[in-house]
Amino acid sequence: MKDLKDYVRTIPNFPEEGIMFRDITSVLQDPDGFKLAIDEMARLVSDLDFDVVLGAESRGFIFSAPIAYMRGKALVPVRKKGKLPCETIQVEYDLEYGKAVLELHKDAIKPGQKVLLVDDLMATGGTIEAMIKLVEQLGGEVAGILVLMELKGLKGRERLSKYRLDAAISYE
Ligand code: PRP
Ligand code: ADE
Ligand code: MG
Repeated sequence: MKDLKDYVRTIPNFPEEGIMFRDITSVLQDPDGFKLAIDEMARLVSDLDFDVVLGAESRGFIFSAPIAYMRGKALVPVRKKGKLPCETIQVEYDLEYGKAVLELHKDAIKPGQKVLLVDDLMATGGTIEAMIKLVEQLGGEVAGILVLMELKGLKGRERLSKYRLDAAISYE
């Protein structure tokens, strides 16, 4: 039987020289890989209590939606700048390669709600840190962080050491 990691394809030097790109499309396009990924992510947080799942555009949507559905919770999308139609709060952040702005609807999280943050991958932790800022600005509480993959060398876990973080796969 194949391991979850066996489904991830690695592309050296994409999108820039020096980046080892961990591709999720190879996981998704195999029904066994996709199922294994979601089942393993759900298992990791099976003991965790939360009210809302926050999913990061774009790749985070793919993994956050089934987790919210399986746990019977609401799904709140965090989107890149200019996509959300109602009043938003914003935060600028750095990625492994580049800069971006994330937005959240002001009424998406209620004060005191426990929020599970979901993304496909944590590299520097910049995206997750931006999501945390958005949640906390609205008075929400970060219950945990869940990713399919963690790139350990970029030290995101240390940056986010105050929070519970579960990853199904990790790369040195
Ligand atoms: C990628 C990935 C994570 C983020 C991780 O998103 O999907 O969200 O980078 O990097 P970090 O830990 O250094 O923040 P990206 O914004 O590149 O694009 P996407 O729209 O394909 O998800
Ligand atoms: N997002 C940020 N860094 C990445 C990497 N090395 N592979 C895939 N997605 C990423
Ligand atoms: Mg992303």
